Formats: sequence, structure tokens, C-alpha cells
Amino acid sequence: MGETASWVPEGVNTELPSAARVYDYLLGGGHNFPGDRALADKLVKVVPARDMARLNRAFLRRAVLYLVEQGIDQFLDLGSGIPTVGNVHEIAQDANPDARVLYVDYEPVAIAHSELLLESNPRASALQADMRDPERIVASPRTRELIDFDRPLGLLMVGVVQFIPDDDDPWALVARYRELLAPGSHLALSAFTWDNAPAGMAGAVEVFRNSQDPIFPRTRGEILRMLTGFDLVEPGLVYTPQWRPEREEDAADAARSNLYAGVAVASG
Ligand SMILES: C[S@@+](CC[C@H](N)C(=O)[O-])C[C@H]1O[C@@H](n2cnc3c(N)ncnc32)[C@H](O)[C@@H]1O
Repeated sequence: MGETASWVPEGVNTELPSAARVYDYLLGGGHNFPGDRALADKLVKVVPARDMARLNRAFLRRAVLYLVEQGIDQFLDLGSGIPTVGNVHEIAQDANPDARVLYVDYEPVAIAHSELLLESNPRASALQADMRDPERIVASPRTRELIDFDRPLGLLMVGVVQFIPDDDDPWALVARYRELLAPGSHLALSAFTWDNAPAGMAGAVEVFRNSQDPIFPRTRGEILRMLTGFDLVEPGLVYTPQWRPEREEDAADAARSNLYAGVAVASG
């Protein structure tokens, strides 16, 4: 009997931890390997990684609901991760059954599992692609089937830009996506920051160094600069639990977040 579980796509390097699988493990999912779990176990010693993951996931949910309220009915989710409880299509289609969602991730386990989950959902699909290649993503038939760039869409970059090094210019990348968006489109973004716990996050950088996805936390100013050309909606760029919390007391977790989050509109 082989040791590889049936859900593992061929050619996946199960030895080298991946952010998608580490995140899955931190959220209590089952699509991860010993190396991913070992990395996560090191991570929780330097930062409150389980809380960071949970608070980020909760921001994603609130942001998607907010976008649906703004009339957004199509979502392009970049760095979508391994499906877990409260996926974008579930949140959006629960509120609006006609909502369409394209998941994009470069991690094969994330895409294989998304495809399985979406088999019978004609309004949601998954594409294996690197978000640093917007032209390929936009031109893909899978994208074209679901997303109309001439209409406002919800662009999600939740918990992902910290995997893009300065050398790959995440600022220019977000700006390129901005050019592709119709007015009224919204961007929901969250990203790792040093600001709250510089020593802990320096430890996290070390832990992620031996993975498929090294991390690059940033200051608030650096993250704000990614939103050039967008107008932030209230309350602006804040720690994940501070973004429109459902209960006032939820915002008290801000010090454990280590991710800034915001939603911004592409105005005319
Ligand atoms: C921390 S998870 C976030 C998942 C989900 N967006 C959420 O917030 O719950 C980050 C995901 O981004 C993906 N990722 C990192 N860099 C990427 C890139 N350049 N292109 C596509 N996906 C990427 C990883 O594979 C991982 O699944």
C-alpha cells in the first residue's frame, strides 16, 4: 500500500512545507503533511499563529459579506488556499445564489481539493496559477467563463501578498490588477506586518525560510502603498479583528493579529 493519501496530486513535494498546508493545519484542517505540521509547531512558539489564521479567516468572511452587500456578485480570490470552513463561494452564494467565484492558487493540493469541492457548482471554479502572472490569469478560459472584467468585481488578496518578495514588486503587481478592474470593483487585502510584534515576526520569517513560501512582513506604510489608486472604506487599514467586527469585544484580539486588513474601492 502506498503512503500517499488519495487526495495528493501527483508531483507534489510533500517534504517541503507549503503555506497553504500550514494554514490548513493551523485552522484544524486535514490536508497537510508532517513537514507542514512541524513548521506550524515552530511557528506557534514565536507568534500566535492559530489566532492569526483564525482572525484572518474571519476577516475574509466579513469582507466577502460586505462586498455582497455592495452589490458585488463576482469574486476573483487570489491565493485562495485549501478549502476549509467558510469558503468564499459558500459565503457569497449563500447571500446571493448567482454569485460567481474563481479561486486561484499556485499550490497543487489547494487546487485539487477546490476542484473536487466545486465539481457540481457551475458558478465556482479553481485555477492553478501564480498571482504574479495577472495576464495569464485574466486570459485563462476558466477565468473568462466566470469573471467579466467590464463589471465591478471583488478582488481578494487575503493573507497572500506577504509571500511576494520586494524583488517581485508587489506594489506594481497590485497596480496592474487595479488597471484591469472596472470602476466600482473592490479589493479586500490582508497582509503580515512587523508593526505589532517585530521580534516574533522576525522569528516567523526564520521559520518560513525553509518552506516553499518564505514570508515578507511589511510596515503599515508599505501595505498602504499597495492600495494606491483605491479608496479605502471605513475603518481603513487596521488589524484584522478591528475591521468591522461583528461584536465590539472581538476587536480586543488586535494585538494577536499581526495582519493588517482593509477593503478599498477602485473609483472611476
Ligand atoms: C495563508 S493562505 C490564505 C488563504 C485564504 N486567502 C485565506 O485568507 O483564508 C495563502 C495562500 O496563498 C497562496 N500563494 C502564495 N503565493 C502565491 C502566488 N504567488 N500565487 C498564487 N498563490 C499564492 C499559498 O499557496 C496559500 O494557499
